[in-house]
Amino acid sequence: AKKKAWSGRFSEPVDAFVLRYTASVDFDKRMALVDIDGSVAHATMLEKVGVISAKDLEDIKRGMAQIREEIQSGKFEWQLELEDVHLNIEARLTALIGDAGKRLHTGRSRNDQVATDIRLYLRGEVDEIINRVEHLQEVLVAQAEKNYNVIMPGFTHMQVAQPVTFGHHMLAYVEMLERDRARLIDLRHRVNSSPLGSAALAGTTYPIDREYTAKLLGFETVSQNSLDGVSDRDFAIEFCAAASLIMMHISRLSEELVIWMSQRFGFIKLPDRFTTGSSIMPQKKNPDVPETARGKSGRVYGDLMAMLNLMKGTPLAYNKDFQEDKEPVFDAIDTVKDTLRAFCDMMAGVEPQAETMHQAAQMGFPTATDLADYLVRHGVPFRTAHDIVGQTVRAAAERNCGLEQLPLEVLQGFCDKIESDVYSVLSLEGSVNARNHLGGTAPNQVLAQTKRWEKIFAER
Ligand code: ARG
Repeated sequence: AKKKAWSGRFSEPVDAFVLRYTASVDFDKRMALVDIDGSVAHATMLEKVGVISAKDLEDIKRGMAQIREEIQSGKFEWQLELEDVHLNIEARLTALIGDAGKRLHTGRSRNDQVATDIRLYLRGEVDEIINRVEHLQEVLVAQAEKNYNVIMPGFTHMQVAQPVTFGHHMLAYVEMLERDRARLIDLRHRVNSSPLGSAALAGTTYPIDREYTAKLLGFETVSQNSLDGVSDRDFAIEFCAAASLIMMHISRLSEELVIWMSQRFGFIKLPDRFTTGSSIMPQKKNPDVPETARGKSGRVYGDLMAMLNLMKGTPLAYNKDFQEDKEPVFDAIDTVKDTLRAFCDMMAGVEPQAETMHQAAQMGFPTATDLADYLVRHGVPFRTAHDIVGQTVRAAAERNCGLEQLPLEVLQGFCDKIESDVYSVLSLEGSVNARNHLGGTAPNQVLAQTKRWEKIFAER
């Protein structure tokens, strides 16, 4: 067996199974390129403060450039015996450049190295996820603009409540995504803090310049306590929490798409390329993308729970447990990125069925509140109006017709304040148009909101 980087004091080689059990290279090799960035920054600093020579630095940079090339072209040979991404790269560096490679780890530990790597890696992914959230917002705003006056039933308790516009409904999700975006931007600041230089846990005896490595790596701040520097994973938990909220929002949208696509609703059509068929039922077209997303939301919540549980019992400072942080974080990254990608494409192709939605909105007396408001405008106290309209609804239900289909004399039988102008109030168009204030469902409010969003997008 090959000699280990740390085997000086050991009297026998590590058990083959233990090696596999404790190794992380299979998954942490994802961080290879940022590991190299971190090492080059560390070496650059060591040279600046006089710990290694200019020649050593030059060799390290050259060796790392080659390793980067080998990794990117898939030629790098990852070895399980070398445990993790850090020792794999360091071993290769030493094979390439000799003693200068052995000097790289001066004043550093894998503990601050790995903490630095996760932060660099996650920072890049957070930026990509922010892009995708923004893209999905743009797609939904475009749908809202196209369908700003398309009327559909709005639901509470999944019972028909009041008519709304499809555009208004789409914009509700744009609001949720905006909060998701703000969370990502906010947590990025805490991701973007440099633990490098914390070394194993206590700092190091070398005259290191932590501000300098932080600057080289684009970190905004430097961690102020070495124990905290190597043992903090709050930022990863925050990321999993933000990812969970994104998935929760997409899962709610998914649930609605599944319902809307059901033949009983028929509110939307999804392009065939986002649906799949059945191996037995020839007629089937199933909303697999929303269903898959709804299912995948659960695994991201699992990633968050895994992270919280991973950290809760660990004393300061570094513990090997922390190696288990990577798979949940990577899984959350992959799942949320893929889901956003699928939804950007799919939501652009959603075709609302205006006629079907309009018909559906006529069932269930959705303008009953409008009638009550009409009575209030004619001097009836709201609670009394509520009761009168309740009786009116009962009469309509008995006749199996809508409120707008009741003859004027019948309506006047419930309240003598009712005149023929009531019918415009009872129409779906009258109902949505009347909700004409900031945040209301009136088509011109929806259009104003789409304009507001487009301005925000243009300024991003
Ligand atoms: N692979 C390890 C991790 O992911 C790197 C740090 C190991 N440090 C140690 N002292 N064993 O956490």
